[in-house]
Amino acid sequence: MLRMRSKYAIALVFVVALVIIEKENKLISRVSDKFVPKQTPQTPTDANSSLSPALLLENGSLLSLGELDSAFLQFKWRLENYTLLVQGVAPGKPLWTPRKHLVLMATTRTGSSFVGEFFNQQGNIFYLFEPLWHLERTVTFEPGGSNAAAVSIVYRDILHELLMCKLYSLENFIYPAPEEHVTQYMFRRGSSKALCEEQVCSPYVKNVFEKYHCRNQRCGPLNLTLAMEACLQKEHITIKTVRIRQLEFLRPLAEDPRIDLRIINLVRDPRAVLASRMVAFSRKYETWKKWAAEGEEPLEDEELQRLKGNCENIRLSAEVGLSNAPWLNGRYKLIRYEDIARYPLQKAEEMFRFAQIPLTQQVVDWILKNTQGSKDSNGIYSTQKNSLEQFEKWRFNMPFKLAQIVQNVCAPAMQLFGYKPVTDPVTLTNRSISLLEKNIF
Ligand SMILES: *[C@@H]1O[C@H](CO)[C@@H](O)[C@H](O)[C@H]1NC(C)=O
Ligand SMILES: *[C@@H]1O[C@H](CO)[C@@H](O)[C@H](O)[C@H]1NC(C)=O
Ligand SMILES: *[C@@H]1O[C@H](CO)[C@@H](O)[C@H](O)[C@H]1NC(C)=O
Ligand SMILES: *[C@@H]1O[C@H](CO)[C@@H](O)[C@H](O)[C@H]1NC(C)=O
Ligand SMILES: *[C@@H]1O[C@H](CO)[C@@H](O)[C@H](O)[C@H]1NC(C)=O
Repeated sequence: MLRMRSKYAIALVFVVALVIIEKENKLISRVSDKFVPKQTPQTPTDANSSLSPALLLENGSLLSLGELDSAFLQFKWRLENYTLLVQGVAPGKPLWTPRKHLVLMATTRTGSSFVGEFFNQQGNIFYLFEPLWHLERTVTFEPGGSNAAAVSIVYRDILHELLMCKLYSLENFIYPAPEEHVTQYMFRRGSSKALCEEQVCSPYVKNVFEKYHCRNQRCGPLNLTLAMEACLQKEHITIKTVRIRQLEFLRPLAEDPRIDLRIINLVRDPRAVLASRMVAFSRKYETWKKWAAEGEEPLEDEELQRLKGNCENIRLSAEVGLSNAPWLNGRYKLIRYEDIARYPLQKAEEMFRFAQIPLTQQVVDWILKNTQGSKDSNGIYSTQKNSLEQFEKWRFNMPFKLAQIVQNVCAPAMQLFGYKPVTDPVTLTNRSISLLEKNIF
């Protein structure tokens, strides 16, 4: 009963949408008849399109659910075409562009910056690096706090806007606030090639401080209007974020016909993540080091709770993603950082194929250059090459005790992703024993 009701509700929304579309169609047809979809009578609902709502609402009630479904599909297509028009797909361009909207969803210290580069390097992709960073200072996220869900919705909604190139939506969260859509404070602008290309690079102004500047050339402060135009002109968009905690929250994006969403969910062995965090945020882990040294059992600790929460979030998201939920409909891909580290090119091909974006030579060259073990003139590996080759380095840095703690706290996640627990210190440091199950998803 409940399900039927929600189906009715959806149908009603689309009936309303159709009425709007029909009105718009008439308006648009006056401007340019090029855009009016051909109305060949194919199905009952299409025979006299302005009558479709009436057909559906015969007697004030709805026809069979089967008919409703096919009608639903019709509306969806119409809405899609309509919204492409509203989005301002330039005249002369085909009405339907196969634009892909890719979200690279990860958590911190999983190698997402590196994997993000695969997409940043490709010229026809508008790549944004952690734009949701700007939200963090304005809306705070307390794990388990009552506002957590509300905050997640704000994150989700801004991501939604950004995927449609609406970069102004970020302005409320940029501090100091941009003036006339121009800002010096776009987080890590230099990590996004698309924000530093000629077209978006306004003339350099002397003595104007730009916090996150372009690397390849000197540019003036970022004009978000120019950036938005560039975004619309690129064939695809990719946004990397470590700030979406639950896949479920992205559902409205997956169901929005205006965007063709793909989600790549990057995961990494939580033991390696902890090892990396302990280096990066050394101060936070004083107690952990004590546990390791004294072999003490940890009781309550903020970082321990945090680790547990993270592992559970990641696992729950992946479970939703792997569940073949109808709303995902092939839009989700789970990938392990370790597999990318071992087979970068093969995994890049896999990710691009999944995203339905052709992989260019540019990206292939970048991957080859940054993953092959060539040394520079001083015989030193670059950090990128190093981090890839050494993806198992943590096994030699991490006290066994801490590995055990992570294994206990993150057991369900580790099992799902195929990370094998170790039972003794010798196994931990024996490189010929792999801690990775064969790719099991
Ligand atoms: C089709 O719709 C028009 C109004 O748009 C209406 O005048 C006409 O009677 C309808 N045709 C049929 C067959 O119902
Ligand atoms: C239309 O309404 C009448 C009277 O309320 C009812 O008998 C009939 O079954 C309804 N038809 C449909 C298709 O619901
Ligand atoms: C939407 O556009 C596509 C491509 O132009 C076209 O094939 C399709 O029939 C259109 N759908 C509707 C319902 O107008
Ligand atoms: C930003 O770019 C737009 C589009 O070219 C332009 O109209 C606007 O004047 C620029 N803004 C500033 C402050 O230069
Ligand atoms: C490492 O593991 C391999 C395979 O189980 C074993 O043959 C080897 O002896 C181990 N090496 C050490 C140093 O324990």
